Amino acid sequence: MTTTELLAKYNVPVPRYTSYPPANYFEESFTVKDYETAVKESNTVGEKRISFYIHIPFCRHLCHYCGCNSFAIMKPEKIDRYVSAVHQEIEKTAKLLDTHRPVSQIHYGGGTPTVLPASVLKELNEHLLSAFSCIDQPEIAIECHPGYLDENYWQSLTDAGFNRFSLGIQDFDEKVLKVVNRRPSLLPVENIIQILRQKNAGINMDLLYGLPLQIEKSFAKTVACAIELQPDRLVTFSYAHVPWVNKRQLVLEKTGLPAKEEKSRMYETAKEILQQAGYHAIGLDHFVKATDELYTALQNGQLHRNFQGYCTRRTTGQVYAFGVTAISQLSNAYAQNSKNIEDYIKKIETGFATVKGYRLNEEDQIVREVIETLMCNYSLNWQELSDRLSISEEKIKQATAYNSALFYTFANDGILTFDEKQMQVTPQGTLFVRNIAAALDKRMLHSDKSFSKPV
Ligand SMILES: C[S@@+](CC[C@H](N)C(=O)[O-])C[C@H]1O[C@@H](n2cnc3c(N)ncnc32)[C@H](O)[C@@H]1O
Ligand code: SF4
Repeated sequence: MTTTELLAKYNVPVPRYTSYPPANYFEESFTVKDYETAVKESNTVGEKRISFYIHIPFCRHLCHYCGCNSFAIMKPEKIDRYVSAVHQEIEKTAKLLDTHRPVSQIHYGGGTPTVLPASVLKELNEHLLSAFSCIDQPEIAIECHPGYLDENYWQSLTDAGFNRFSLGIQDFDEKVLKVVNRRPSLLPVENIIQILRQKNAGINMDLLYGLPLQIEKSFAKTVACAIELQPDRLVTFSYAHVPWVNKRQLVLEKTGLPAKEEKSRMYETAKEILQQAGYHAIGLDHFVKATDELYTALQNGQLHRNFQGYCTRRTTGQVYAFGVTAISQLSNAYAQNSKNIEDYIKKIETGFATVKGYRLNEEDQIVREVIETLMCNYSLNWQELSDRLSISEEKIKQATAYNSALFYTFANDGILTFDEKQMQVTPQGTLFVRNIAAALDKRMLHSDKSFSKPV
């Protein structure tokens, strides 16, 4: 099939599978008590390493496209109360955790964590690290909006302990940024990179395609500019237009969004340019240099994926998440905090702020492994999975919705090759790996949930 024919058939809403089950299956019946039980259990069940995630929901201005939980609130007293609640939440969680477990990763996301003074971020890092030991070279990462940050600030971030920086570039074309209500970088991006490189920090750039005014040629130019700056990693996010979740996105329809064929050409061309420049694809939208540890992890079967993106099994632990909307990802449960800032602060005063979650049964845990393996490696070997999980191949297949008739259709359409032992997504099929994952997910046989489209 041609890409246009594949798009017509497969560009339908399917989960992104950043978690399994997807977050819209979390249940309100999952309480604070369930969260506390799951945290205590996580000391003895599953991965020993600890990952921390901190959500900072504030932004100076809201970008029209944004699908994250972000608020244009910058009142200092509100921010202070919020940060103090996060400290309290860390304190309470640390009391439930075995302090012999090592920290392997800390990730700040948002919103815009870099609205906080670097000294405040430093205190949060110190708080997290004071109660635990660390693995050698833990990853301490932060998502940064470069539109507001001067040289001093970048320097202070490295002094605060950060060693991995994700720069929200989105597009180098200022016309595109203007129409989505976003400021371009304050410093020339090459200066930022120079500052961070001096401290041996890892650098990622976020680009976003599918926005108004973007066309294949203009986005290719943005990708070429990014390559010139040689970040270690580059992510090309497909703009997820979900105005029923985020009404603010509706305004983009006035200027108009690129047609899906144009959008898929943006992705294909970006991928081609990046690969020609020596970047390797990780999953659908991450591209890394051959020297990057994600690439080594891909080759060694050590690649892992969580809500924060791809990581290696070296840095991945069970994730304990703090702040509004934050999702903890434990070996047998997910727990999500309140999305409302005032509600979160109030709840933390008396306990935890969990408002929903999900406890995974054995079948869920098997399907989670199957889908994660497929999404990370674009391939699946049932025997290898069976050895890793110590569960028979038959039981693994039974836990999924595996149906060979449907997989023959995928194979005929050219998105996959498979036999009894394994499946391999073809280069043409990578765009539709979410559809293949969905075909292994029994929940999708009768789902009434809304999802975004692959492209
Ligand atoms: C929390 S934001 C980044 C941090 C910082 N606030 C910034 O804007 O640079 C994380 C990334 O999500 C991506 N993103 C936001 N909204 C999106 C959407 N609707 N669809 C796809 N990606 C999106 C953007 O590329 C953004 O860099
Ligand atoms: S993209 Fe970043 S700065 Fe823009 S609204 Fe979303 S979180 Fe805030």
